[in-house]
Amino acid sequence: MEWTREQRYLPYNKWDAETLLKLQAQADNSSYQLNYHIRPSSGLLNDPNGFSYYNNHWHVFYQSYPFGAVHGLKSWVHLESCDLVHWQNKGLALGADTKYDSHGAYSGSATVIDDKLFLMYTGNVRDQNWQRISYQNGATMDKNGIVTKLAAPLIYAPAHVTEHFRDPQLLKHRDAYYVLLGAQDKTTLSGKVAVFKSKDLKNWEDLGYLDFSPETMGYMIECPNLVFIDDKPVLIFCPQGLDKNVANYDNIYPNMYVVGNKLKFDAARMETKQTAPINLDDGFDVYATQAFNAPDGKAYAISWVGLPDMTYPTDEEGWANCFSQVKELSLDEQNRLVQRPVPAMADLRQAGQVVKAEKAINGRQILVDNASRSYELKLTIPKGQAGTLHLVANQDLSESLQLKFATGDAAQLVVDRAHSGIQFASDYGFTRQIDLTANEDLELDIFVDNSLFEIFVNGGLKVLTGRFFGSQANNQIAIQGTTKEELAFRGTYWRIDHI
Ligand code: FRU
Repeated sequence: MEWTREQRYLPYNKWDAETLLKLQAQADNSSYQLNYHIRPSSGLLNDPNGFSYYNNHWHVFYQSYPFGAVHGLKSWVHLESCDLVHWQNKGLALGADTKYDSHGAYSGSATVIDDKLFLMYTGNVRDQNWQRISYQNGATMDKNGIVTKLAAPLIYAPAHVTEHFRDPQLLKHRDAYYVLLGAQDKTTLSGKVAVFKSKDLKNWEDLGYLDFSPETMGYMIECPNLVFIDDKPVLIFCPQGLDKNVANYDNIYPNMYVVGNKLKFDAARMETKQTAPINLDDGFDVYATQAFNAPDGKAYAISWVGLPDMTYPTDEEGWANCFSQVKELSLDEQNRLVQRPVPAMADLRQAGQVVKAEKAINGRQILVDNASRSYELKLTIPKGQAGTLHLVANQDLSESLQLKFATGDAAQLVVDRAHSGIQFASDYGFTRQIDLTANEDLELDIFVDNSLFEIFVNGGLKVLTGRFFGSQANNQIAIQGTTKEELAFRGTYWRIDHI
């Protein structure tokens, strides 16, 4: 179905309940539906918003367009959790229903202020000529989940930015509030992080752009957010159109990070020794990651698994995309970002099954013959070997998600989804690759959730995330050596049930 602008921006109350119920059922019954990740009840999900801890619960919201797999009139849908793993969908929290957000309640953040959760978001407005006006709005959510919008915007776009000015992250530092915003500079048409300061959330001072790199950050930065890990600032952001000579990436738009040594808030400056941003995820589909510091100081991140301007096979079923699992962030001794599953992910494990090297038959060793569509597989592949791990494979391994590894001198890991099912995003290639340290054991912690994979490499030093859309009948996990028949490996497989 071709969507007209009128359809995409039709107010929610003009849709009938039946249509929504039908779409929800369609998503529920999809053979690609997720079992233990956040996914849309219907329609399209994009960025995580308002990731926070308030009133003894974790909160996250997703950008939602509930009436189809298109980027239409956006709102925030609220989810709540006690453990960062089991999430309860509380429904629509912020709609597009005022003159300051008439064409979408776009992305933003949440901060606890006094006894409320303060939501700061971008109100997307289009005038009669379809010119965009971006307002940075506020709302509060109380302990009963009641959301009240402020009557007027907090921040209006300054003269030095174009219409692309959005995704506020509100932070408290000492006795002041600071806001980071994704922006496009009007003169250079380049991507920037705009910084504002306020003592009272009413009067805002424009501190200019965050100085964190001498390089041009593409033509627009979306979803900037800052967390502190071991007192070091870490900026996570999406520099759209970034020159690949600055930092290479394979996806349509990158999601990257820079680790700083110090953040000088009032000077809008992050000192860093890092010369170029680094991909946050080395897979196919991570974007708009949002991170925040919990009250105990720990840093957590959650990502949209989906990309702007892309189509996915479930679009035809009227729904699209999901979130990654929540990842706990830390830094290693070389200041590289480490992302790990949160402890409660282990609660999802059902009846562990040891997998270890068996005799090869027809050149392959079977790890699990009748695997679930949702599982965790922890695997150690000792150094000095090369081969392919086939996930969600059919019997003759002609269909599978392939992890091609080499743990010898030229050590690397390649994820190849070309034979994993329906082909999509072909313009951006079917493989993603990371280099590994030569002659070291490879530690993989792999999560499969029906149509999603998340691969944590070597304790989370690298993560590769992606979607795949394969046949439900493919339930084998097998390994094949490149140079020798029998490979050494050891690990554990746990089935994960629908939660
Ligand atoms: C990123 C983004 C944000 C915007 C939101 C709208 O995916 O384009 O910049 O606020 O999505 O849904």
